[in-house]
Amino acid sequence: FVLNTFYCKCIVNIKKLKRESNIMRYSNLAGAEILEDYQTFAQMIKFRQTEAKKSVIIKISEVSHIEHLKQFCECYARIVNIFPYNTIDNNRFVLMECSSDKDVEALRKIAVCKASPEYAHCVTPFFLYKPRFKLHINQKTLNKDNYEYYSNFETPNLDEINQSLKKIESVSNQMMFLYNALRITELNIRLRFYTATQISYYLSQLFINLSVVPFGSSVNGFGQIGCDLDLLCKTNISSDDKSGWKKFLFMTQVIPLVDRNEQKHFLDVVGTIMRTCIPGITDVKKILEARVPIIKFRNLYTNMQCDLSSTNMTALHMSELLYLYGQLDRRVKPLVFTIRKWARNMNLTKENPGQWITNFSLTLLILFYLQTKDILPSLTSIKIFSDKSNTIDNFDWFLKWKNTVSSNDESLSKLLCEFFEYYSFFDFKTQGLCLRDGITKVKKDVSPLYIYNPFNPSLNVSKNVTISELLRLVEHFQRAFHIMVYSTEKDTLVKLINFDLNLTINNGFNNKNKSEFINEKFIPNVTDTNNLQKMEKNIIK
Ligand code: CTP
Ligand code: MG
Repeated sequence: FVLNTFYCKCIVNIKKLKRESNIMRYSNLAGAEILEDYQTFAQMIKFRQTEAKKSVIIKISEVSHIEHLKQFCECYARIVNIFPYNTIDNNRFVLMECSSDKDVEALRKIAVCKASPEYAHCVTPFFLYKPRFKLHINQKTLNKDNYEYYSNFETPNLDEINQSLKKIESVSNQMMFLYNALRITELNIRLRFYTATQISYYLSQLFINLSVVPFGSSVNGFGQIGCDLDLLCKTNISSDDKSGWKKFLFMTQVIPLVDRNEQKHFLDVVGTIMRTCIPGITDVKKILEARVPIIKFRNLYTNMQCDLSSTNMTALHMSELLYLYGQLDRRVKPLVFTIRKWARNMNLTKENPGQWITNFSLTLLILFYLQTKDILPSLTSIKIFSDKSNTIDNFDWFLKWKNTVSSNDESLSKLLCEFFEYYSFFDFKTQGLCLRDGITKVKKDVSPLYIYNPFNPSLNVSKNVTISELLRLVEHFQRAFHIMVYSTEKDTLVKLINFDLNLTINNGFNNKNKSEFINEKFIPNVTDTNNLQKMEKNIIK
């Protein structure tokens, strides 16, 4: 539901505009943490989805219109929050939260339902706001500072980060700063759920048992500004079939799609519907031949780059597990954010997936390391300590678990240094990481990096990582460890996240050639470089 281009016109001469207490200002430092403190994953998702259903997005042309827009909308609905923002293509919007979905309905009624030619084939109508009032703006009395625009869609500039870090004395505090500066903001989280809810609304008009939910870094607590919005189609199969006659229409019921071909066909249809029917959706690309078929698109109004996949519930469970780990100890998120930032700046992770480690696999490396330090429990201990309901969505088990392990109170700085040390000397040649049991296990195949999928131990999460990429990763672990040991406290983090070509890496090459080194350190039972190249090709395949 979009109230488009607000030409706010009102005959009222506004004498004084005061800042309203219920218009919230958010900075990176404020945010979702208060909520996260007491919400389980399921509660958090439900809370955010409800919030999104009570919200509308309105396009405006001038910052000065916001106050009038608010006054106008208040004649029809109860407004709780207003968040103004700019998209990167410099369009101005307002995310308006009402007190209930009935208020949203009321606003919907005053909006004019107008199918513009570009949405002529809409399955549901596209709402445009019809200007009704002439607005007289008294520039003298208008206090534009009442409303700030937020454009938290781009990652903060590295120079600014460096300047700020230099002002902070300890590495641990610098890591906290980095976490607060990089994590997605409250507004951004709301826009992510709004985007999912909007697509869900449109698709459910055709596929009655379908909903679209966010997963991945948007919801697992490790999302950074600018991260993509991962969405998946969730099917709700209820025993009492309310679908009635609709069942006879083409694909009105969607069953969970296990078969990859079915997923491809389903996403093909969904991609076409989205391109043609859903307002604000652009750049739709169907990537159906990938291992996991997806639809890529951008939402112009919320400025979200989205990946929509089919009914893959494991990915959602994985998000829940990561969310839980992020909640269990206050050091987890700052550590993950710092290491992710470091890896991105070293070009170890990239925007697109490929032969290199992904943010997700890197996060699992960090979580596994924290398991070895008794800071996080293994998945098995979560199960043992959780109640018999077979769910991890319960904090009681955690208290029980906490009482059984030694309390580790190492500083963030020490954990960071030891993380780099741990993986600088890790036996990647024979060992894989098993987060399910919290221990290393012998690798099941020759993949250079082996991370057992916590929910399906027959799968390797990091199968895509090639030998040369793993080598690069280990080189950088060693370099980072070196920096952490030899730099002064204040310089450490700046040196870490800024690539310095002049810094030599003590990687063990000194006395050996590269292939000899790779064979010795990473490859089980490989003696010549031809084999090495063949193996790398196979892995890429
Ligand atoms: N996922 C998974 N198994 C994989 C890869 C991904 O279960 N081998 C799931 C995880 O829940 C992951 C989500 O898919 O969080 C999204 O993957 P991706 O976008 O690659 O990672 P994010 O965690 O979202 O990180 P980023 O910020 O880089 O998008
Ligand atoms: Mg993602």
